[in-house]
Amino acid sequence: MKTSITTAIEKCQALLREGHLVAIPTETVYGLAANALDSMAVKRIFEMKGRPAFNPLIVHIHQMEQLSILAKDIPQKAYELAEAFWPGSLTLILPKQDIVPEIITGGKPTVGVRMPNHPLTQELLKGLPFPLAAPSANPFTRVSPTSAQHVWDYFGDRIPAILDGGPCQVGLESTIVGFKGETPILYRKGGIPKEAIEAVVGELKVSTENETFPEAPGMLLKHYSPRTPLLVCDNIREELKNNPHKKVGVLSFYQEDFPSATKVITLSQNKQMEEAATSLFEAMHILDASGLDLILAERFPEKGLGSSINDRLFRAQN
Ligand code: TXA
Ligand code: MG
Repeated sequence: MKTSITTAIEKCQALLREGHLVAIPTETVYGLAANALDSMAVKRIFEMKGRPAFNPLIVHIHQMEQLSILAKDIPQKAYELAEAFWPGSLTLILPKQDIVPEIITGGKPTVGVRMPNHPLTQELLKGLPFPLAAPSANPFTRVSPTSAQHVWDYFGDRIPAILDGGPCQVGLESTIVGFKGETPILYRKGGIPKEAIEAVVGELKVSTENETFPEAPGMLLKHYSPRTPLLVCDNIREELKNNPHKKVGVLSFYQEDFPSATKVITLSQNKQMEEAATSLFEAMHILDASGLDLILAERFPEKGLGSSINDRLFRAQN
């Protein structure tokens, strides 16, 4: 089947109804979507990504009524977060209802649910009688795609359609919050800053990483990685001096004056953290395709979205 990068929603709906995969735009990153209630269709996602079966998928909905069909025993604070941030870059981990296939949850008793904030994908979901399971549309451990072209570069003709919703506006994956009883737990930093979530539900416990059996495999240390070695540093000029004979690419927050670098990408000349987050993965894709020996990435201020950006940079370094 020939892949098309398309804006034809009905065509994508028809493919999804038949159990095929479609790449979909969201405000965070592009997803690789299938009918969440069809185990055979979902299996194709795992095969396409080369993703281990224990790594669960997020289920995407378009209206609040769908939440209690997929999840049960929903804490009050989960509703407060959904009210505050949906549609948006927040995934809630909740006890699953029987309707959610085991393959989605990797055998766990919980399911991740998110209502994405992208007009095309909302329209797509509205015309379907099922929610969509979708991980980021990249091969396992690689950098997430923030444009239809990135998805095409990874998978080409192997997926039947890529719904083109333009570049992703947030550019980082959703923030993931679960619960131990009523206590909210941060599983993954992301597009909504931790501080914004704490303003709604109080202090978040941060899930401690467990490399052998991570509760959220988004916490796996090696993740979001370019092929080119990447080093996170505080002083890029110093590191450039330490690597005089290499072709070095620089990923900086707002400075652009690095004469000895082969290529420099500045994420936000106006020092805007949101703009930097939006541009981050695109910049990593470009630098990775530039034939460099090394990428030096500047560490961000550890607050707000800066903390989410640092999280992705440190995982890319491994
Ligand atoms: O922004 C996003 O979240 C994007 C877009 C497409 O919605 N999706 C995304 O999916 O980033 P993925 O599969 O690349 O990352 C989802 C993360 C994984 O680390 C997975 O382990 C975790 O969510 N997750 C999903 N269900 C879970 C569950 N029941 N318990 C713990 N972690 C879960
Ligand atoms: Mg991912």
